[in-house]
Amino acid sequence: MDKLVIEGPCQLSGSVQVSGAKNAALPILMGCLLSETPVVLSNVPHLKDVTTTIQLLATMGVEVMFDEELNIEIDASSITTKEAPYELVKTMRASILTMGPLLARFGEAKVSLPGGCAIGSRPVNIHIEGMQKMGAEIKVEQGYIIATADRLVGADITMEPVTVTGTENLLMAAVLAEGRTTLRNAAKEPEVSDLANFLNKMGAKISGIDTDTLVIDGVEKLTGVSYRVIPDRIEAGTYLAAAALTQSCVTVKDVVPEHLTAVLDKFTEAGALITSTEDTITLDMRNRTLKPVNIVTDPYPDFPTDMQAQFVVMNCLADGEADVEETIFENRFMHVSELVRMGADIHVEGNVAHTKGVDHLIGAPVMATDLRASASLILAGLVANGETVVSRIYHIDRGYELIEEKFHKLGAHIYRAN
Ligand code: EPU
Repeated sequence: MDKLVIEGPCQLSGSVQVSGAKNAALPILMGCLLSETPVVLSNVPHLKDVTTTIQLLATMGVEVMFDEELNIEIDASSITTKEAPYELVKTMRASILTMGPLLARFGEAKVSLPGGCAIGSRPVNIHIEGMQKMGAEIKVEQGYIIATADRLVGADITMEPVTVTGTENLLMAAVLAEGRTTLRNAAKEPEVSDLANFLNKMGAKISGIDTDTLVIDGVEKLTGVSYRVIPDRIEAGTYLAAAALTQSCVTVKDVVPEHLTAVLDKFTEAGALITSTEDTITLDMRNRTLKPVNIVTDPYPDFPTDMQAQFVVMNCLADGEADVEETIFENRFMHVSELVRMGADIHVEGNVAHTKGVDHLIGAPVMATDLRASASLILAGLVANGETVVSRIYHIDRGYELIEEKFHKLGAHIYRAN
């Protein structure tokens, strides 16, 4: 099994190209199931989760082709099965996003119920209840959600708590439903808006994009378009965190700085100098002192849970104490015990990680447990003295494209071994 070996500490410099957003690409790929003619997608990142999604679509009879520029053409004009099997769903929970499109276009969907998850229980009750409100008959049999409907009908649905994939699934169900659907307390994450913009380009009628109330007037059919996926704000934030930690100056290219507003505010509070252009962000931490920052994770536009682990590492080396409170997932501090093995001073009480900054971390063998936890261990390895070996890095390959190449280009001593 692959490992990442990092020799620290290192100084980074230069710029890094940000890839397309994983959490926008996945729902958009699933959204292709709604189209009666081929769709061409660009800026889709090359990640394990994208490969899994393509595999999932292929098992349904969708034709997937790549051109020489690695754009992906998805032809879902004829589908052979409307099932998302357990073997694929168990490796990627986002597979639940096939349910809305299949039900809306074909009136039937059989999707394996996602099982447990390392970061929390992550139920899908809001997805199911929303589709029931739209007229679907839903039963759970032998671990599968089996949904049927003649044609979905518009409904007024309030989602509680705010859910990203729940909003996306119901949005995709509503675009072909009869009449108007109103989704209240909708997630406003840029990835949700990207999906909505994609669906509108295909002929959907969605208004209220970027707000917490989405109004969808159902249409008869959607047709194929070319669409470019937005940049990955979390990948960008992770490279900026690496710059902050290693007291370096790094530019991330091809980003949308507004998508990172809450994160950039926290970098500034941590002592970094941030400068942005229309599509780049530069973080300069040279000759500056890393300050501790208190953080509470919350839905967009507030501070994202997907950047929490990276900031915990920053706090571990900051000059003082800080609290990081995780409010989205109940078990998202698994990086903490690994960081403690590297010399960090962190105490978790309930959903708060309290850190006291230390002078340095020491390289150690550590184990990745989920995607963002793995990213934080790599960041810790870049700044720690000596060798850090991060095992189980299949977690990182799910969400970060060419991570060791990108860090290597910035000047890190990092390589993949098995
Ligand atoms: N929730 C329910 N019922 C539901 C759905 C959600 O109670 O039916 C709860 C969850 O248990 C959680 C909260 O609502 O406590 C929010 O979860 P949400 O549904 O928003 O999370 P998600 O859609 O499963 C997406 C991202 C995650 C990201 C979260 C929060 C994708 C594919 N995944 O997950 O990304 O952390 O939103 O922003 O978009 C990652 O990329 O590493 C990752 C985990």
